[in-house]
Amino acid sequence: MQAGDRTDPKAVMRMLNLEIVKNYDELSDRAAAKVAALVKEKRDAVLGLATGATPEGMYARLVRMHRAEEVSFSSVTTFNLDEYESLPPGHPQSYHYYMHRHFFSHINISPQRINIPLCSGLSVEAFCLDYDSRIEAAGGIDLQILGIGSNGHVGFNEPANSLLLGTHLVELAEETIRDNSRHFDSPGDVPRRAITMGIGSIMQAGEIVLLASGKGKARAIADSLSGRVTTAVPASLLQLHPRVTFIIDKEAASIIEP
Ligand code: GLP
Repeated sequence: MQAGDRTDPKAVMRMLNLEIVKNYDELSDRAAAKVAALVKEKRDAVLGLATGATPEGMYARLVRMHRAEEVSFSSVTTFNLDEYESLPPGHPQSYHYYMHRHFFSHINISPQRINIPLCSGLSVEAFCLDYDSRIEAAGGIDLQILGIGSNGHVGFNEPANSLLLGTHLVELAEETIRDNSRHFDSPGDVPRRAITMGIGSIMQAGEIVLLASGKGKARAIADSLSGRVTTAVPASLLQLHPRVTFIIDKEAASIIEP
């Protein structure tokens, strides 16, 4: 970092919506409330969805709200951010499996309106182009939910010299493989490649909500809200989005607000 080229983090935070909440429960409450509010207002909302441990609490709350007949997903369309390339949908660590287990099996969404990247039959290139066309045909994503990798990745857009705008096949970073190996028997079982929505598809969403919980995310959050935009920290590009909210707990905020 050169002298004089830092933006005051407080100034960045004033530009973005930053909600620092007490803990994971509060984070999940806030995230679910945002999704529910949109779906109540726009029955045919298009949601961009994320996997990982972070949004599990949000999904649990949305399922609860659905069971209490507070919210209906019958006209909602969803696009998931990413999926491991080599895992079949029935594999317990696949994001297909995750989404059905935590959300889709418990709500009244129509299966035809669920989109998760999985390339079968088509070439990867054709599949990725088709995924982006499907997002466009649905009218674009109204609300994109994001987690964040400890290296600042969003979806599986890993730190790199340049980032791709559209959906694409990606080699996972060693750090991501290490982080995600906690879900597998051994690091060797973690797939090396994934299909992810590109940074362009994410940035085109009408609204973005990024969720982060725990100390392990504090560095990535600080780097994403530093006032510097760099493909070395993919989440830092979100600072350019006109309607983005970071909902993070105290631990994830521990570097920006010690
Ligand atoms: C994975 C996913 C991301 C997710 C990230 C963080 O790598 N591809 O979309 O945001 O992990 O996951 P967690 O919430 O489990 O920390």
